[in-house]
Amino acid sequence: MKIRVNGITLAYDDRGTGLPIVFLHAFPLNRTMWAAQEESLSSEFRVIAIDLRGHGESDAPLWRYTLDQTADDVCGLLDHLAIRQAVFVGLSMGGYVLFAFYRRHADRVTGLVLADTRAQADTPDGVEGRFQLAQTAYKHGPPAVADIMIPKLLSPATIQTRPEIVQRVRRMIEGNQVSGIAGDLMAMAERPDSLPLLKRISCPTRVIVGEWDQATPPSDAALMADQIPGARLAVIPGAAHLANLEQPELFTQIVRSFAESLEEGKIR
Ligand code: MLT
Repeated sequence: MKIRVNGITLAYDDRGTGLPIVFLHAFPLNRTMWAAQEESLSSEFRVIAIDLRGHGESDAPLWRYTLDQTADDVCGLLDHLAIRQAVFVGLSMGGYVLFAFYRRHADRVTGLVLADTRAQADTPDGVEGRFQLAQTAYKHGPPAVADIMIPKLLSPATIQTRPEIVQRVRRMIEGNQVSGIAGDLMAMAERPDSLPLLKRISCPTRVIVGEWDQATPPSDAALMADQIPGARLAVIPGAAHLANLEQPELFTQIVRSFAESLEEGKIR
């Protein structure tokens, strides 16, 4: 499905009924990374997965992006769908968008799942790395970005033994436009430090991380779980950065039990 919001077209899936759960994907992927979660959870919940601006079937206008804009796109879609409040699951860049969303629209958030992400802003070296990756995207296209990103997203064991996952991730990356890849890199490089926000997050929160995640390691996840009042941390064995793809059943189960507990009012 597609809608116009904030001057661009956004693509999304909307399946099932019940408590809404909104999934925000990683960089530089798209909403299909949530296929297993969508399939499983939509029997019990209303599941919404969005191609964030610059990705998949959404528009990727050639211009400067901010994660605040991306957060407002998500809010615009919720307005369109008449969803007042939802549980949000953001993985990596999706988590960065959730920090922006919470700063701007906290009253729309019933619960947060922060997966394989971090609260800190980029270091100067990190910003330089984003600049270099944008140049690679511009000169050599998305396939060169896939070559660089795949070893950062998946564990060596997955890369060696699960070619179907590697091919899926490659297809998602190669399906993006250079304008979207560069726009996101600029937006992520400019995002503010969210560490001061953590103590002010007052909704129920789960933090998830793959035990081998090197992009946003378990120490970053532990810091978020420590600082967000009442947050709990789940470490997923046998997964690196894309924990929801490498260990889909366990990831889905954590989200399911979190959402069920919110539905039943067990956590507040
Ligand atoms: C992601 O998976 O979204 C990226 O690794 C985030 C980042 O580059 O900081």
